[in-house]
Amino acid sequence: MLRLGVLVSGSGSNLQSILDNIKSGYLPAEVVVVISSKAGVYALERAKKHNIPATVVIPKKYKTREEYEDELIKTLNSYNVDLVILAGYIRVLSPYFVRAFQGKIMNIHPALIPSFCGEGYYGEKVHRAVMDYGVKVTGVTVHFVDEGADTGPIILQRTVPVMDDDTPETLAARVLEEEHRIYPDAIKLYAEGRLQISGRTVKIISKEEI
Ligand code: GRF
Repeated sequence: MLRLGVLVSGSGSNLQSILDNIKSGYLPAEVVVVISSKAGVYALERAKKHNIPATVVIPKKYKTREEYEDELIKTLNSYNVDLVILAGYIRVLSPYFVRAFQGKIMNIHPALIPSFCGEGYYGEKVHRAVMDYGVKVTGVTVHFVDEGADTGPIILQRTVPVMDDDTPETLAARVLEEEHRIYPDAIKLYAEGRLQISGRTVKIISKEEI
């Protein structure tokens, strides 16, 4: 059973979709710890309802970024986490953290990378930028985390249409529905050992090839 550590900062609807897919038997994994960068967020309630250990580690309470990330690393290791899942986690992790879990961190981004991504593109800002640009199609990307912001090897991408009468809110809601499907799919492929990273490319191998 793949042991997941989920990092959150907000509502945690992606955490919920992962939990639902574990419960249904679709995802051969277990969420062993949830870590939030903010106190009082709904993601923590969701963890509590499922009896999952949840902890709050607030970046500004640490003198340096390294000390903060050391606390994250220590917590994740104490639960023997195999894969770190960033699910609406608002911080960009430094190379120090990334090296501690090389090839074992996934992130979801609510647009088609390499468009509308990188520093400053998070939450509603992404969907506002998509609409301001006037693209007809946006989507969702799940990728491995490397040392840059949203630059790691792409695992799965799916498109979502932009409608003429969309607002950033309606578009965000449509994109989020796709997020809830694609993240469990990506984690399942990892759990099944079907993701092969070669440079920037992630090859999805068939079950027979494993
Ligand atoms: C999602 O749109 C995710 O792609 C982005 O932040 C949002 C988090 O939603 N990184 P939730 O906390 O999982 O509900």
